[in-house]
Amino acid sequence: MKAKALMISLLAFSVATAVWAEGTVKDEPIKPIEAAVVKDPKMVELGKKLYFDPRLSKSGFISCNSCHNLSLGGTDNLQTSIGDKWQQGPINSPTVLNSSMNVAQFWDGRAKDLKEQAGGPIANPGEMAFTHELATKVLDSIPAYKEEFKTVFGKEAIDIGMVTDAIAAFEETLVTPDSKFDQWLKGDDKALDDKELAGYKLFKDSGCVACHNGPAVGGTSFQKMGLVEPYKTDNKAEGLVAVSKQDADRFKFKVPTLRNVEMTYPYFHDGAAKTLEDAVHIMGQIQLGKKFNDEETANIVAFLKTLTGKQPEITLPVMAPSTNDTPRPDPFGKGDAAKVEGADKKS
Ligand code: HEC
Ligand code: HEC
Repeated sequence: MKAKALMISLLAFSVATAVWAEGTVKDEPIKPIEAAVVKDPKMVELGKKLYFDPRLSKSGFISCNSCHNLSLGGTDNLQTSIGDKWQQGPINSPTVLNSSMNVAQFWDGRAKDLKEQAGGPIANPGEMAFTHELATKVLDSIPAYKEEFKTVFGKEAIDIGMVTDAIAAFEETLVTPDSKFDQWLKGDDKALDDKELAGYKLFKDSGCVACHNGPAVGGTSFQKMGLVEPYKTDNKAEGLVAVSKQDADRFKFKVPTLRNVEMTYPYFHDGAAKTLEDAVHIMGQIQLGKKFNDEETANIVAFLKTLTGKQPEITLPVMAPSTNDTPRPDPFGKGDAAKVEGADKKS
């Protein structure tokens, strides 16, 4: 009885503190990010393995983590990515951190959610260059994977839908709460110094928040790149028009999240802005018609750096080895590994 009463009062206390804590969140256009709620830990663990497993690529060398490196803020820090056979990618790789908050996936929004997105790169000839059939064949040939899929999905046969479900479940845990800015939003007035606060004020008052807002400080809409002045680039991407076929959507791109932006250089869909200072300067000029002086730019950059949150803590997954039945990688496009010169000579 006593224990029950204690439970109830504890419960009442935690509800009361939750309400109190919510009440202290500052009323700003940017909202704090909350820690991920893991609904199905086994599925997340499986998704993590798949995310790191290069055997889902033709070369046996490229995994999701190659271009969305979780040691580097979920990006590759390259202007455009490197794909199968060292192919130059067409566009800058956006971060996977907090990507579950995006209104849609890709710069042009062509995938509606993370599940739909995750099937793309595996079969993209310029990225992992595999097929969905071969990917499931690889997984099917490894008993530990088979077992794990069965535990998580309750089915014998592995299909690509399960693969993308698991990867998406893992990606949903890749959120970055507790940045300095979030601490400030939640009531710790000392979390930001004067320069960072001045930068935030300028960010807000200049109108950056019209597009960069919400918990991810972006990701909620598609906007014209070059609203006031045209943006010059050699990159061929046209943005949302490729999906909507509406001419008005030409050169509209998904507004990127600015969470962890100090880690996700270089910037813009063409990766042309090498530094955060460049990106801020260009944004001011072409989106808002404002020319920031060096001090203003430095203040905004100082504010943007307060958006770096706690990075997901990842223990590298250990993969079960391939078996004799596992299709072999083909990194140099020479076909079956058995046909490689060295292998022939042995016999
Ligand atoms: C060869 C590099 C490469 C590999 C490998 C790769 N990606 Fe990507 N990823 C990119 C690029 C480039 C884009 C942007 C493409 C576009 O918008 O047209 C992207 C976009 C994304 C996005 C959308 C993010 C956003 O803000 O719109 C997610 C999520 C993502 N990738 C997850 C994955 C997953 C999961 C895998 C593994 C199954 C993977 N990627 C493999 C390069 C890569
Ligand atoms: C009209 C909407 C809009 C406004 C206003 C706006 N932005 Fe952006 N911002 C975007 C879009 C769209 C992109 C991506 C454009 C692209 O890559 O083609 C972007 C990209 C960025 C990037 C690069 C992020 C990355 O990962 O590549 C930074 C940094 C940035 N904005 C900061 C700012 C700042 C600072 C302001 C205010 C001075 C601002 N933005 C105002 C829409 C806007």
